Amino acid sequence: MFASIILLWLCVVFLILLLKSQRPKNFPPGPPILPILGNILHLSLENPLKDFERLRKSYGNVYSLFLGTRPAVIINGMKAMKEAMVTKGTDFAGRPQDLFVNDTQKKGVILADYGSSWKEHRRFALTTLRNFGMGKNSMEERIHGEIDYTIDTLEKSIGKPFNPHVMFHNAASNIICQVLFGTRYEYDDEFIKVIVQCFTENAKISNGPWAMLYDSFPIIRGLPLPFAKAFKNVETCQNLAIRLMKEHKKTRVPGEPRDFVDCYLDEMDKRGDDGSSFEEEQLRMYSLDLHFAGTDTTSNTLLTGFLYLMTYPHIQERCQQEIDEVLEGKDRASFDDRHNMPYMQAVIHEVQRIANTVPLSVPHCTTKDTELMGYSIPRGTLIIPNLTSVLNEEGQWKFPNEFNPENFLSDQGEFVKPEAFMPFSAGPRMCLGEGLARMELFLIMVTLLRKFKFIWPEDAGEPDYSPVYGVTLTPKPYHMKIQLRATQ
Ligand code: HEM
Repeated sequence: MFASIILLWLCVVFLILLLKSQRPKNFPPGPPILPILGNILHLSLENPLKDFERLRKSYGNVYSLFLGTRPAVIINGMKAMKEAMVTKGTDFAGRPQDLFVNDTQKKGVILADYGSSWKEHRRFALTTLRNFGMGKNSMEERIHGEIDYTIDTLEKSIGKPFNPHVMFHNAASNIICQVLFGTRYEYDDEFIKVIVQCFTENAKISNGPWAMLYDSFPIIRGLPLPFAKAFKNVETCQNLAIRLMKEHKKTRVPGEPRDFVDCYLDEMDKRGDDGSSFEEEQLRMYSLDLHFAGTDTTSNTLLTGFLYLMTYPHIQERCQQEIDEVLEGKDRASFDDRHNMPYMQAVIHEVQRIANTVPLSVPHCTTKDTELMGYSIPRGTLIIPNLTSVLNEEGQWKFPNEFNPENFLSDQGEFVKPEAFMPFSAGPRMCLGEGLARMELFLIMVTLLRKFKFIWPEDAGEPDYSPVYGVTLTPKPYHMKIQLRATQ
């Protein structure tokens, strides 16, 4: 009798799980779903990018997968991406709130759900970045100031193999630190070393197998498994941020902001106790958010750029020729010079396309019941925008699968930007640091290429272009040889 009850109970549970794992009516198609596991076995937990591409070939540009019992819609290709991110931008502008990444981080802007707090904070960041010179000279000054340190580092490494990983990471980190905290840090400064290490580690954990298991099987969340390290890392960063805020509050003059943190504190004063979403805890996470978003992305793009420029020396030389011509007689490059450098512009954009730095964007979530390419998608569905599928989509690019600046050049040699160029995503959630990132990439690449020749060391073997997977794609560690250019 007892055994029969257990058996019956198991059957009922199995039936419930089976029903729970069914695709709703007119939901995007996808592979058969297993109870409890969903489609987890269809994905490599280490790097699902190839699986996403394989599934696209079977099920089309909009398909669905179950991560455990949770349905997710994967969006591929320019047409579907544009419909979701731009045409129906607000329908798709939410962020899921119960994933691993949310549990590691409760405030900030990157993972905030669509709503008034996100809107206010996004607007505030865009205005503040603009006021601190995004697109203006003062930001160029800051970037050039940091490039001087990069040049020093490179000069010291002339003639010997040099791994540029830490240098680019620190350069990108320092540029955003100057905006946020009004200061740069020495390369071996403990504060920045700890923050960079924690965030790099968390980026890898967040897109790794343990986070996928955490998201798919809520039952394991309390267990002391490897994902627990990410929570520890966030706590460490929070404590450092608390220290930084305290120092700022001690030295600030209200109304005379020196940086982003001061601007935010002024804004808090202005709003007083009006129940606004501007509060200190939010500021702490927000600054860490912006620091992370602005560091790993830009530095990995630079690393990819120099890897390709070294191993395609004819492209490097053509850039240098254009730079020499346009900057002749000038002390240094300004962002406006890009208008006279179509080839350099094409190369930077091609580097971004091939670097595919944020391959799956950041997860979105539908804010209401909606439709995409004729399919029905209920409110609250997890959306994975597969930017990779747009950046190398056949039909959108002259050379989708090779590194070739011709992808961004017209027959007359003018710079053209195809619509499928979406490394910053598109629509209301599009990267809010795009302007800063583009300025950094241009000034850093142009200045370094003007001064140095970058050479792939003879004993380095064949270059390995396949990146290490994570929230951001990182090139495998490599060395460069540096020579001063004869024209300098
Ligand atoms: C090459 C450099 C960069 C790339 C490729 C990049 C790419 C992206 C992508 C793909 C997203 C997700 C957009 C979406 O959810 O649809 C994003 C979001 C974001 N990025 Fe960037 N990013 C870069 C640099 C920066 C910089 C320098 C900053 C800092 C100022 C920044 C700040 C942000 C923020 C705050 C968000 C979240 C926006 C929101 O949720 O509303 N990014 N970025």
